[in-house]
Amino acid sequence: MSERQSIHGQWSNRLVFILAATGSAVGLGNIWKFPYIAGENGGGTFVLVYLVCIALIGIPIMMAEIMLGRRGKQSPINTMATLASEEGKSNGWAALGWMGVVAGFLILSYYSVIAGWAMSYVFRTGSGMFTGATADGVSSIFSDLVSDPEKLIAWHTIFMVLTMVVVSRGVKAGLEKAVTFLMPLLFALLLLVLGYSMTTGYFSQGLEFLFTPGEITGKAILIAMGHAFFTLSLGMGAIMVYGSYLPKTTSITQASLWVAFADTAVALIAGMAIFPIVFANGLEPGAGPGLIFKTLPIAFGHMEGGILIGVMFFLLVVFAAWTSAISLIEPAVAYMVENKGYKRVYSSVLIGIVTWFVGLGSVFSFNIWADKTWSIPFLFEDKNFFDTLDYLTANIMLPLGGLFIAIFAGWLMRKQASTEELNTLPVIYKVWLFLVKFVTPVAVIIVFLKAVSVI
Ligand code: TRP
Repeated sequence: MSERQSIHGQWSNRLVFILAATGSAVGLGNIWKFPYIAGENGGGTFVLVYLVCIALIGIPIMMAEIMLGRRGKQSPINTMATLASEEGKSNGWAALGWMGVVAGFLILSYYSVIAGWAMSYVFRTGSGMFTGATADGVSSIFSDLVSDPEKLIAWHTIFMVLTMVVVSRGVKAGLEKAVTFLMPLLFALLLLVLGYSMTTGYFSQGLEFLFTPGEITGKAILIAMGHAFFTLSLGMGAIMVYGSYLPKTTSITQASLWVAFADTAVALIAGMAIFPIVFANGLEPGAGPGLIFKTLPIAFGHMEGGILIGVMFFLLVVFAAWTSAISLIEPAVAYMVENKGYKRVYSSVLIGIVTWFVGLGSVFSFNIWADKTWSIPFLFEDKNFFDTLDYLTANIMLPLGGLFIAIFAGWLMRKQASTEELNTLPVIYKVWLFLVKFVTPVAVIIVFLKAVSVI
């Protein structure tokens, strides 16, 4: 087989790939979503299921995605078609890539709206309006923001434009350097907030909430598993497309472990920083999507240098969201460049506009459409537009994508091909193969069935 080359270029080196993949993984999922869904689903057991899913499903699927991407060297749609035909299988496998493209753009449509909230919080914090604020004051400032569709649309628009700019230039340009120092800085600021939380007197209560197991429902297990995919950017081709720009020499195992570790550390620290503030101020752990915006400003309003720290913190959250957002549409953009011959700029703008429109549905979900909810039998009850999109993408489409990736990499690909591409120690290969062949498929199917109460 002659060596395939990606027409979109290659990462400059191994570190850049790890940074880009970490940039994709670490985002709103860690800082905004993880705390609020852990809060809504009772804490302890939910967190435990999430951690088990990261270890047994997330890491092996990440390795599989990178491996498939690096072997196929194209957008996930074409990569799957090429690899399937190489293995003598139907090119219907391209459908996996298509599902990823749809999932990615649906996720970005609401992701951008939430990133918009974080942007507006840079300025709110900077104005000093949180200084000395009470929990009630902070909550009502949040309500003011989300009840105003025009403001939300403005921020959503700005964030989409930022995303388009980077994707148009190719994910490498500019991004590499930005990620190198922004990610560590975000981590440092999270530690500062954690330090504040330790002074609230409710730190141990926060830890207890996050780490003491209790009851859990089938639905909560599905949400925990879905989140393992979401937070590691798996199941829709984002990591696959990043893998397609990866040089042959990089260790896929090491890179995957590092990304999963960094991602999990950020989520857990965010959780440990937020829950003590929740309990110290008599807030509800299940406060929903507004949780971080109702808690962290209290910390910034009461700590020394809180304005500066708060501004930097929300700015870094925006950056974290930005480096994640670009990976959500990179598969679609790469496909359009490959198959339609469109320029990157044109493809990005086109997809950006469609995504922006769909995002309006999520903007309205927090105000004028807040009561417009619906139910799908067995799946969910009373969800509005935003909740529906989030549920369908994170809890259904991503695990389904992961399931098929596992089946392809574990069952259909020749062992010789996967051994060669993973290029790792024989024992690691054996463990990986066992996990993708049996554990992932069985786990995803059981969790699906349990969530709809069939078992
Ligand atoms: N992982 C990112 C986060 O936690 C979001 C994200 C980026 C994503 N790319 C993805 C989620 C691909 C699912 C699939 O914020």
